[in-house]
Amino acid sequence: MTEHKVAIVTGGNRGIGFEVCRQLGKLGYHVILTSRKKKRGKDAAKKLKKEGYSVKFKELNITDPESIRSFIKWAKKKLDTIDVLVNNAGVFLDNPNESALSINQKTIKKTLDTNFYGTFHLSQGIINLMINSGYGRVVNVSSGMGQLSNMNGGYLGYRVSKTAVNALTRILAEEVKGQNILINSVCPGWVKTRMGGENATRSTEEGADTITWLATLPEEGPSGGFFRDRKPIEW
Ligand SMILES: NC(=O)c1ccc[n+]([C@@H]2O[C@H](COP(=O)([O-])OP(=O)(O)OC[C@H]3O[C@@H](n4cnc5c(N)ncnc54)[C@H](OP(=O)(O)O)[C@@H]3O)[C@@H](O)[C@H]2O)c1
Repeated sequence: MTEHKVAIVTGGNRGIGFEVCRQLGKLGYHVILTSRKKKRGKDAAKKLKKEGYSVKFKELNITDPESIRSFIKWAKKKLDTIDVLVNNAGVFLDNPNESALSINQKTIKKTLDTNFYGTFHLSQGIINLMINSGYGRVVNVSSGMGQLSNMNGGYLGYRVSKTAVNALTRILAEEVKGQNILINSVCPGWVKTRMGGENATRSTEEGADTITWLATLPEEGPSGGFFRDRKPIEW
């Protein structure tokens, strides 16, 4: 049990998720750094603890229903409240040379399984707990590649998965309206991580900034929006 506000971050072992854990830790949150691999998650949490933050590792694979079930069971039992959920875990499996007319169906299904169904499944469990405590901030880490207003060819699996995440943001935000639970989507920009690659233009600190901002919104903050650089962007 803890007197801090509690934040859960998926895919917290590396990249943007790891930096979000650090930024929330710096703001005084007790961070539940989750990772699908025990060793990776434990090492990452250890690093942040050494930096002086309140961080606990928990194993969580968002594509494994049993892993989600046991995580929710643990959270119900061990956490007084859950204030923040950052749905950061994601995969990018599309081959850049593949067109929508030839893409392997398996690639699309696997991508949706993580980026959409995993995000949805975990959100369902956690938001129900947030409703009981009358407070919540949910941040869905989406991408400009899911913007319908800016949709180009290619990367069908990833694009569709992030468009679906954005729809999820709108639907859930509407359904919890008036309960002090704010749910938003964010595009972190092109960030130097394993997914973003070496040529990306942003640091993880820059990529995590708007996510952390949305995770800590005041009661009158926005909900059901899509943001980049702390500003609304088109769907
Ligand atoms: N980097 C960019 O330029 C960029 C741009 C727009 C949006 N995004 C979004 O930002 C988020 C973070 O991306 P990133 O750049 O930090 O990528 P990354 O370095 O590849 O990290 C992805 C994270 O997701 C985790 N993950 C994948 N599948 C999972 C599962 N089934 N269960 C739990 N964790 C899982 C990975 O765990 P493992 O270490 O075990 O693989 C890793 O921790 C993603 O949602 C991505 O789509 C990134």
